[in-house]
Amino acid sequence: MKDGKFLTLGIETSCDETAASVVADGRFMMSNIISSQIDIHTAYGGVVPEIASRKHLECINDVIERALKEADVSVKDIDLIGVTYGPGLVGALLIGVAAAKAMAYAADIPLIGVNHMHGHIAANYLEHHELEPPFMALVVSGGHTEIVNVPSYNSCEKLGGTRDDAAGEAFDKVARVIGLGYPGGPKIDKAAKEGNPEAIAFKRVYLEPGSLDFSFSGLKTQALNYLNSEKQAGREINVNDVAASFQEAVVEVIADKAVDAAVRYDQKRIVMAGGVASNSRLRALISAKASARGIDVLKPSPVLCTDNGAMIASAAYYAYKSGERTDYELDAVPGLEF
Ligand code: KG4
Ligand code: ZN
Repeated sequence: MKDGKFLTLGIETSCDETAASVVADGRFMMSNIISSQIDIHTAYGGVVPEIASRKHLECINDVIERALKEADVSVKDIDLIGVTYGPGLVGALLIGVAAAKAMAYAADIPLIGVNHMHGHIAANYLEHHELEPPFMALVVSGGHTEIVNVPSYNSCEKLGGTRDDAAGEAFDKVARVIGLGYPGGPKIDKAAKEGNPEAIAFKRVYLEPGSLDFSFSGLKTQALNYLNSEKQAGREINVNDVAASFQEAVVEVIADKAVDAAVRYDQKRIVMAGGVASNSRLRALISAKASARGIDVLKPSPVLCTDNGAMIASAAYYAYKSGERTDYELDAVPGLEF
């Protein structure tokens, strides 16, 4: 506690960001330190798990110290430690979990293991201080594309998800084949602004009528086939047009299904979360489609869409307040379900 505020330290190391943050009362960010490894993994065209773990190990203590320093607090002011324990890369998760357990034990601070996906949703509590469940959440990241009904702080019901590639994964793969490099999402977003979304007729895959599931792997194959046939015909590829057309096919389906879910479950708000939630076209399209149905769309700023420690702190705070406790047996669970 400091100045009457309940302080949570959030730690996140599930993929390629070493992150820590101090959050007051589950809502107010006092610091948000993110040490990104993107530059290191770019040379390999994607995240190399062994390198990620080693980098987390090198950075974790420093990142935590910086988070405390920037918040102008010391370890003894911290009331709760929240840490991501899954899903993610096992070696990467273990670094955060070990650091959190060591600190919780040494300083006698309660510990909460947080599901990374719940953290992404909680990012919205930091941005929209009045937001309270119930709402519909759209979680779109490198590993997930999920529509989740959130009736209360500590419960959520997955209504649909991807049957193959996640949205971010599809962005990253297509970006690689059109030569935009890693991480693909932001690069496609940028290139698409200069392209024509109707240039190539990529399929909109809705699956069975009423399904809230997604499938993006066919789209990736369609993009590959298009590139090959253009090459064989000796035609030059317009990267911006491919990016815009591909992006439109992905975000249109996501926006339609998220709005459909909100209408069916009578939710008046859709909360966006995850790295792909910072996609500018998805943000614009879903807002337009939702407002036509009288539904509000809440979007975290891009820094809170991608992995960070603050979202983990916020999710830990609400779990703790509802009576949840985690013991020192906490282990990394790479395949943790929603
Ligand atoms: O949530 P996140 O930071 O990490 C995971 O938990 O996966 O999401 C990373 C994913 C990557 O696939 C990245 O390409 C994608 O989010 N992404 C975007 C954009 N910014 C990040 N995808 C589309 N448009 C963007 N602007
Ligand atoms: Zn994430």
